[in-house]
Amino acid sequence: MIIAIDGPAASGKGTIGKQLAAHYGLRHLDTGLLYRAVAKQVLDTGRPPDDAEAAIAAAKSLDPARFDEAALKAPAIGEAASVVSAIPEVRAALINFQREFAATPPGAVLDGRDIGTIICPRADVKIFVTASPEARAARRGKEYRAAGQSIDDATVLADIRRRDERDTGRAIAPLQQAPDAHLLDTTDMDISTAIRAAVDIVEATRAGRGRG
Ligand code: DC
Repeated sequence: MIIAIDGPAASGKGTIGKQLAAHYGLRHLDTGLLYRAVAKQVLDTGRPPDDAEAAIAAAKSLDPARFDEAALKAPAIGEAASVVSAIPEVRAALINFQREFAATPPGAVLDGRDIGTIICPRADVKIFVTASPEARAARRGKEYRAAGQSIDDATVLADIRRRDERDTGRAIAPLQQAPDAHLLDTTDMDISTAIRAAVDIVEATRAGRGRG
């Protein structure tokens, strides 16, 4: 089974993806980490994130086995990841890895921005997870503070709005709900409610398929 989860920053898609994978015994790939790793590699060499040549070279030489997830989750990396992810050749260099990951038995849960639309258009279940920008900013702010990073909610909200705009407005593989994706709005849900709702979607989709 392949489950595709898409949605904007801090919508809850990463946690939902991880929990669905554990629940169904599938592998999990947070595809945002790929773009974050490209961005970090570019920044580490002193180049700006919109340096296409540096970003393409980084994407082509990426080694996901060596990712330091904690370092990649830093706020500045998310912003830079959004910039490098708008470069078509960067996206092209990362497609095979994601599709092979999805196709490897027993299947996988992938979360990102273009999983249901581009990477796995034939996924068994597609979920588009969203929440209001304010709810997402509050969650992200809490996470940063728990990790010891002092950053106020207004800055986090501005960052989220800027990223939403860039990720949905870009020419290539923009963030959008696939026509056959189930919408899961987590604005008023705590995380355990959201996970239960996601499991319900998977179960309903499987049951519907069985009857057909
Ligand atoms: O999900 P995240 O916040 O870790 O993603 C960081 C950035 O990477 C996001 O702003 C856009 C980009 N991204 C993408 O373009 N496509 C994906 N499948 C995943 C992430």
